[in-house]
Amino acid sequence: MIRMIDVHKAFGKQKVLQGLNFEVDEGQSLVIMGPSGSGKSVILKHLIGLLEPDQGKVEVLGQTVNIHNREALQRLRMDMGYLFQHSALINWLSVYDNVALPLRETTSQSEKDIRAQVEKVLGLVQMEEAHEKLPSEISGGMQKRVGLARALVTEPKIILYDEPEAGLDPEMSASISKMMRRLKEELGMTSVTVTHSVSCAVTVADTLAVFEHGQFLIAGPPTDVLNSDHPRVKTFLGAALD
Ligand SMILES: Nc1ncnc2c1ncn2[C@@H]1O[C@H](COP(=O)(O)OP(=O)(O)O)[C@@H](O)[C@H]1O
Ligand SMILES: [Mg+2]
Repeated sequence: MIRMIDVHKAFGKQKVLQGLNFEVDEGQSLVIMGPSGSGKSVILKHLIGLLEPDQGKVEVLGQTVNIHNREALQRLRMDMGYLFQHSALINWLSVYDNVALPLRETTSQSEKDIRAQVEKVLGLVQMEEAHEKLPSEISGGMQKRVGLARALVTEPKIILYDEPEAGLDPEMSASISKMMRRLKEELGMTSVTVTHSVSCAVTVADTLAVFEHGQFLIAGPPTDVLNSDHPRVKTFLGAALD
């Protein structure tokens, strides 16, 4: 469903992706951990066509992601939800209007159909009570859930989570992780998640990868990766558990 084949990406002299390879099958969940600034968000941006590889290939839903083919990219993005590192809600729009925005911008659905869909996804993230509130009037955890509802509103097949736990206390973070797992179990969502939280990784990952210096140091079932003898993986995950 998602495939990166020998992807290289540099910004000037800085080599960020150096021959990255991975695959995510339908309904599967890949979680990527790694140091800040190593290039994890850059990986997600390649999947959604915000960046293009210098070399190699990115495939999503059987298509090569091509940032120059606007129309194909637009169609592909309808099948992909993106939960940004910071919820990226629009301050002056209500919760309802924030969630409705992708449908208003990319479809010609009636307001009645839009309402039904927005109410459905706000229900999924347990935010049905907050329609008329502004983002500034709700907590960080709620903003995250609204961001998630917005990512889900077009009924994507794939969802990309960039540090879904960022800025949340451990309890809210756990509740988001559980919600991510429910989406996978109940809707069969395919996902790629970047996180610094081991507990989030363990909750949602089928495959856990540790990324550094442009490549995965290791990738496998979370328990195997957490018990790995790889010295760098051990040090990194050991620190993440503290
Ligand atoms: N569009 C860009 N132009 C130049 N440099 C970038 C761009 N996007 C990311 N970078 C650089 O690539 C590196 C990896 O960034 P990023 O993927 O955001 O790291 P993280 O692993 O923390 O998500 C950083 O050094 C960042 O400055
Ligand atoms: Mg990042």
